[in-house]
Amino acid sequence: MPQIAPVTKVSDKLKDMLNAAIAREISVSIQYMWQHVEVIGVKGIAVQDQFKQTAIAEMKHAESIAERLWYLGGIPTIQPTPINVGKSLKEFLKLDTKAEEEAIVLYKKIIEQAQKEGDVTTAFMFKEILEDEEEHHDLFTTMLEEV
Ligand SMILES: [Fe+2]
Ligand SMILES: [Fe+2]
Repeated sequence: MPQIAPVTKVSDKLKDMLNAAIAREISVSIQYMWQHVEVIGVKGIAVQDQFKQTAIAEMKHAESIAERLWYLGGIPTIQPTPINVGKSLKEFLKLDTKAEEEAIVLYKKIIEQAQKEGDVTTAFMFKEILEDEEEHHDLFTTMLEEV
């Protein structure tokens, strides 16, 4: 489908930031889904579905950011950032907490940059995604206290 010039124009810097966000959303979506598959033990079974639900949420984030980037005239990346599944439930949760912390830092920067460029929609979208990431961070740190 040929791209139509968008009404909202943004910098390459912001488009690159959106691609960095997509790359990490793809990565964590695989990371959490594989943790869902590989989790073992009684404690693991109790939290298994949380990994799956979070993986699905991250895939939806990747999709909506990609749609936004496409609208803004960018090409969404297919390259994930390094995926770190880990080997034990404790390690899973440590890696996931770190991943969510990185998301929170990056998305705050994206909101700031989008606002600076008058791209209200991207800023709004990332405020909603940021809320999800803060919930994920809370979930993983809470789970980490229990293992
Ligand atoms: Fe996400
Ligand atoms: Fe997340």
